[in-house]
Amino acid sequence: MLGVSGGIACYKACSIVRQLVEAGATVDVVMTVSATEFVRPVTFEALSGRPVLTSLWQRDQALAHIHLGRDSHLIVLAPATANLLARAASGIADDLLTAILLATETRVLAAPAMNDAMYAHPATTANIATLKGRGWQFVGPAIGPLAEGPSEKPGRMTEPEEIVAHAKRLLCAPSSALQGKRVLVTAGPTREHIDPVRTISNPSSGKMGFSVATAAFTRGADVTLVSGPSLLQDPTGVETVRVETTSEMLETVRALLPEADVLVMAAAPADYVPRSTADHKLARADGPITLALEPTPDILENTANQRGSRCVTVGFALETEPGLERARAKLERKQLDLIVLNSATQSDSGFECDTNRTTFITQRTMTELPLLSKHEVADKLLDEVEAML
Ligand code: CTP
Repeated sequence: MLGVSGGIACYKACSIVRQLVEAGATVDVVMTVSATEFVRPVTFEALSGRPVLTSLWQRDQALAHIHLGRDSHLIVLAPATANLLARAASGIADDLLTAILLATETRVLAAPAMNDAMYAHPATTANIATLKGRGWQFVGPAIGPLAEGPSEKPGRMTEPEEIVAHAKRLLCAPSSALQGKRVLVTAGPTREHIDPVRTISNPSSGKMGFSVATAAFTRGADVTLVSGPSLLQDPTGVETVRVETTSEMLETVRALLPEADVLVMAAAPADYVPRSTADHKLARADGPITLALEPTPDILENTANQRGSRCVTVGFALETEPGLERARAKLERKQLDLIVLNSATQSDSGFECDTNRTTFITQRTMTELPLLSKHEVADKLLDEVEAML
């Protein structure tokens, strides 16, 4: 259930409904009368495909305040105004939404949205503390421009994507073996410098690793993402550490491994580093030049002892030929529990695209998957990890 109270952020609540519906949720929207001044109920009706309730007195809905709260798996309040939080904290039930909040035992996730001074007011602070004490979860508010102008203090509603990410986690984590587990994911390319302005790298976008990190967060894991240079934004709820070179990635993974229950190496670390890096920009030569390269450390091989059998480890094998045997050899050599053979023979799989053709290989099994989005591959991968845990 999405409860919408009256603030300018109401227009963003439309996007929350859309994203939740897209993710497979059935969403009942309940609006306060003030919220209907900002966005008309028909908008939410179209997005949710269900009637929108706004009043205790709607025809045939006499018990809506009891059954809506009881039948929902999660109540999201976005935007949650200062007034809504105050009424909920005091147990006031003078409209449908607050009556539901008083009658329900369902978990509540609130996304406050208000003027920064209202948020900083001791009354609001006390109300939020009271509601947290009753088990309510909060996301935000964020810092950023408010309706009345720029602000450097919290008040603005957290973006819909982030609210939805937290809602998904609250819904999915209880049934996942990853809940409370520590998951370490690597992503993206690494980059080795030839001189201060030139590098050796590869076109990995980071999408596969970022998808795994996001999916692990949804399943309730405590996720750290170690990413090489990637244009993607830090995923919601995930501690993201940015590195540049393969050696930096190795050192960061080493430092984080003792805590990790799961390691997913989705990164494409550069395999070679120039023997020496010039400290100034090299001048262009007239003829060909020769660059001496040395292998970088292999992160999986160098951490095999440290991981032991304690940490479920997943690697990827990007191959441009049918690579079953090479992938199997990597599974052995790098001491993995699962290797995801990733075919880069077609343009819809491999680097810089949103889909992958993969085969999952363990010591005993081999499963060829159809063309899937990287998000779907991430979910299948974590299903395997859960089974192994
Ligand atoms: N990998 C690693 N350290 C490296 C290079 C790769 O830990 N220096 C990891 C990758 O993250 C991936 C797995 O090893 O999970 C296989 O990577 P891949 O590039 O397919 O294999 P390589 O070992 O680099 O072998 P080759 O280049 O010969 O295919």
